[in-house]
Amino acid sequence: MKILVTGGAGYVGSHAVRELLKNGYEVVVYDNLSRGFQESLPKDVKFINGDLNNPELLEHVFNSNKFDAVIDFSGHLEVEESMRNPEKFYLNNVISLLNLLKAMHNHNVKTIVYSSSASVYGQPKEIPVSETHVNDTNNVYGETKAIAERMLKFFDNIYGIKSVSLRYFNAAGADSSGEIGEAHNPETHLIPIVFNTALGKRQHISIYGTDYQTKDGTTIRDYIHVKDLSQVHILAMERLLSEGKSNVFNVGTGKGYSVKEIVETARKITGNEIPTIIGSRRFGDPAELVAHVGKIKKELGWEPRYSDLKTIMETSWKWHKNHPAGYGKI
Ligand code: UFG
Repeated sequence: MKILVTGGAGYVGSHAVRELLKNGYEVVVYDNLSRGFQESLPKDVKFINGDLNNPELLEHVFNSNKFDAVIDFSGHLEVEESMRNPEKFYLNNVISLLNLLKAMHNHNVKTIVYSSSASVYGQPKEIPVSETHVNDTNNVYGETKAIAERMLKFFDNIYGIKSVSLRYFNAAGADSSGEIGEAHNPETHLIPIVFNTALGKRQHISIYGTDYQTKDGTTIRDYIHVKDLSQVHILAMERLLSEGKSNVFNVGTGKGYSVKEIVETARKITGNEIPTIIGSRRFGDPAELVAHVGKIKKELGWEPRYSDLKTIMETSWKWHKNHPAGYGKI
C-alpha cells in the first residue's frame, strides 16, 4: 500500500515514516523543508520537495502515484508565531489542507489521518480533558487546527473522505537509534531547551511562570513519546481503511508532569546542573493540559508503550547528546 506523507520531514513525520516503512508500507514524502530536514529521512525513501500551496505539483504527484491514504503532518505549530503572523498560519495550516483535500477528491483518495492538537481546547475547564470538551482556543494556531477538523468533517459529509484527527498533547522523545529526534529552528519546546542547557548551548532555561495553581506552581503537560504517536497514526489509518468511520481522538498518556519535574529528571539523566531562572508566563499557556484517554483506548484499543517519562527523556537525551547541532542547520 502506498501512503503520501505530507510534512514527512518534520519531527513527528520523520518518525512516522520510519514506522510506516517498518510495517511494509510504500511511502512518498512531500515536504517543502521550511521546517523539516531531509536528513531526518531514510536515503531510499521517495522524497518530493514541494509545497501544498502548489496545486499543480500536487496534481502531478497524485497523477503519478496511486495513493491508498494520506497522513498529514505539514502544519506550523508555534502559538506565539501564529499570533505575530496569522496569515502565514491560515495559508500553511488551512489553505494547504484545502489543496490537499481537493487533490484527494479529484483522485478518489478517501482516507486521511490528520495531526491536530490539544490546543483546540484552549484553557481546559476540566482535567483530564476529553474529546467532548468545547473547542475554545485563544490563538491562531489552535484556531487553524479547529478549522481543519471542521473542514475534514464536511469533506466526509459531502465527498466521503474519511479522516481521523489526532489531537496531540506534547510530542516528545526520539527514536531509540539516536539517529533522528526533535529539532526546530528556533527551538521553543521545553525538553530540547532543557537538554540544550545541559549541553551548555544555553546558559539557563527560563521557567515560564511559577505561580500557577499546580502542585509546584509550574505548568503541567502530558508528554507522549513520538514513537507511540507515530504508531497511533498507522493504527488509525488501518482502522479507517477497514471500517471507514471518521473520528477524533486525544493522543496522550493521561498523566502530567510539571516543568520543574522535567528539569529535575533531566538533571538526573545528564548529571548536569541545568541552571534555571524564573520568567514570566507565556501567552496562551494553560496551567495544566492532560488528556482523557478513555476514547482512544476503547475504540482503537491503543495504549502508549514508550511514554514513561524516563524513556522519553533518555531517548531525547541520546539524540541531543549525539547531535548537539540537530541536523546541522541549527
Ligand atoms: N516552558 C518553559 N520554558 C521554556 C519552554 C517551555 O517554562 O523555555 C514551559 C511552557 O510554558 C509550557 C511547557 O513548558 O507550559 C511545555 O512547553 P512546550 O513549548 O514544550 O509545549 P507546549 O505545551 O507549549 O506546546 C505544545 C506543542 C506545541 C504546540 C502547543 C499548542 O509542543 O507544538 O502545544 O498546542 F504548538
